[in-house]
Amino acid sequence: MYRVITPETEEEFEKYFTFRWQMLRKPWNYPLGSERDEYEQVSHHRMILGPDKSVLAIGRLHFNTSEEAQIRHIAVSANQQGKGLGKLIVSALEGVARHENVVRLVTSSRESSLEFFASCGYSVAGESSADLTGLQRQLMTKQLNELNAIMLHPKWCKALQALWYDTIPISEQMGIKLFQYSGRTLETRASLVKNMNLHDTMFAGSIYSQAVLTGWGMIHLQLMEKGLAGEITLAEGSIKYAKPITKSPRALCNIESVQDRFSWLAKGKKCPVKLQVDIFDGDDPAGVFKGEYWVVPVAKES
Ligand SMILES: CC(C)(COP(=O)(O)OP(=O)(O)OC[C@H]1O[C@@H](n2cnc3c(N)ncnc32)[C@H](O)[C@@H]1OP(=O)(O)O)[C@@H](O)C(=O)NCCC(=O)NCCS
Repeated sequence: MYRVITPETEEEFEKYFTFRWQMLRKPWNYPLGSERDEYEQVSHHRMILGPDKSVLAIGRLHFNTSEEAQIRHIAVSANQQGKGLGKLIVSALEGVARHENVVRLVTSSRESSLEFFASCGYSVAGESSADLTGLQRQLMTKQLNELNAIMLHPKWCKALQALWYDTIPISEQMGIKLFQYSGRTLETRASLVKNMNLHDTMFAGSIYSQAVLTGWGMIHLQLMEKGLAGEITLAEGSIKYAKPITKSPRALCNIESVQDRFSWLAKGKKCPVKLQVDIFDGDDPAGVFKGEYWVVPVAKES
């Protein structure tokens, strides 16, 4: 499971800047230190660490005006590229921008990353000046609005949200919202206030429900991706609560945890799907749900 964190300690910042230098400056023979600029103190930094605490991905956001923010210094380690980590970092930075009511994001993209930013919803708005390394860059922009908060398949996500509210009305009462779908990760968020228990923390049953629904949603979207359809039911579920939720309930299902037999479904047989949903309180891990679902083929209409 990949988790985007905010570097906080001196050691984390050291790793973060060294990685930025290694990825974006060293190949062009620029010295250590050249990777930093005057905006570091007022910027928002995000990174993803591996199980051995090595840096896998980084990115930065700073505000040009109260309405415009700039994404810079995105990098993913060479052996981790193509797994969705770049998109996860961009999504986290966009989350910060949305929170601050920014309406426009800009980035000055190298030719080699144009397609990456295009896939995150950015469009070329003109040429930008060449950077320190002499590489030509293009100015790319993205207007932020409610629909493009969900990067991939916004229509499917909107339909899934409506399906939940329509068929499981309690999910609306709980304030469960599909927050982000990147193709590899589905994140839902819930209202703490609507799910509070007598200890002023989130009711354990609500946490379970949010996790079950997140796993269900991930399977639903994976079926859509594959052009398949089926009735999804939960056969078995277990949850470990690590700490009470007191701030922002979040549930994330990453594709790497999904073990499926969708090929059976394509042949008209019911198929099992096992997956894991990680629960967070803001950025803090708060629990893990493991679920075993079945997907039953939908009878074809005659
Ligand atoms: C550019 C970079 C950050 C992308 O990170 P990544 O983790 O490999 O990208 P993701 O796996 O999140 O890919 C997201 C999407 O971008 C597309 N994409 C990523 N790199 C691409 C490339 N070089 N060419 C075409 N498409 C690319 C992926 O196909 C994927 O599309 P999809 O979601 O529609 O399937 C990474 O390749 C990198 O660190 N490059 C070197 C440093 C760099 O150039 N940074 C940018 C500075 S401006």
